[in-house]
Amino acid sequence: MGYRTRAYGIPGSLADYHPDAHEAIERWFTMPNTGNSRAVADIIEDLVPMRPAAVVDPFCGAGSTALAARRLGIPFVGVETDPVLACVSTAKSLCGPDDGQALLELPEADESPALRCLRLVHRLQHLPGGGRLSAQMITEDLSRGAPHVPGSMVVRGDSTVRATWEKLTLPDGELVIFTSPPFFDDWTGPEVPPQVRVEAESLLAGGVTQDSYPAARGYGDLLVGALRAAQTVVPHCTAIVEHEPGSGPPDRLLEVADRLTHEAGLEIVEILETSRFSPGGLFSLLVCRL
Ligand SMILES: C[S@@+](CC[C@H](N)C(=O)[O-])C[C@H]1O[C@@H](n2cnc3c(N)ncnc32)[C@H](O)[C@@H]1O
Repeated sequence: MGYRTRAYGIPGSLADYHPDAHEAIERWFTMPNTGNSRAVADIIEDLVPMRPAAVVDPFCGAGSTALAARRLGIPFVGVETDPVLACVSTAKSLCGPDDGQALLELPEADESPALRCLRLVHRLQHLPGGGRLSAQMITEDLSRGAPHVPGSMVVRGDSTVRATWEKLTLPDGELVIFTSPPFFDDWTGPEVPPQVRVEAESLLAGGVTQDSYPAARGYGDLLVGALRAAQTVVPHCTAIVEHEPGSGPPDRLLEVADRLTHEAGLEIVEILETSRFSPGGLFSLLVCRL
């Protein structure tokens, strides 16, 4: 099927699409496919004329979309299957200056999940992906970064499962999905000591993790599965989806677009070819309507 395709210059003056190692909150923890939150915010503002009621990311990883929503002052709703990354996104999305102050004090029994995720982020600092920041620096980031936005949430679970979407609290009104499904089939999440993973699993309540989408779980399966499940709770929404060369030969993007059309019944609005590099190479954006 033919799709409207155009060259797209990402707004702003970023030289690339990598996370900014000096940017407050962004620098806490990243992984190879983490994007730049300012670029994500610019893209959302550029492509979506009306201010959305929430920004949703069903594969939210280390939280570049979460932070983009925070920059825009819009509630963020995220889903992430990896418990450590779900904690990172939770802390980036939900923590405010009070949590930063509490991080400097001894833990208390009744701390919120967000604060406990922030403590875990602090413990990740000397692992690959961690910014090597002290608790004091994390606390400073929360004072000088964008304010956290009430109504934001992150659920640990499988976004291809309808039950996961039913756990989300979504505001009325037009929503935007901005997401990067996994580009590489063999990626298994950040390398952390087993006790950190166990702790992360205990922090975020009630993940829905069973497989409901059959067979292989590559980029296309995950994206089609997630947007199909999303449709059960999100009737009207623009979805902006990143596609990297790592997710298959260039024309694989068109196969994914065909699957979104035929299996999920979505309207492909356009395919944007960028000249920017994400960690996997030049990337495209697929824009569709639920
Ligand atoms: C390309 S990464 C997202 C990068 C993200 N934008 C960031 O800022 O770090 C894709 C993420 O999807 C997660 N994932 C994989 N399968 C999933 C599923 N079924 N449901 C939810 N998340 C999933 C992976 O753990 C990974 O963190």
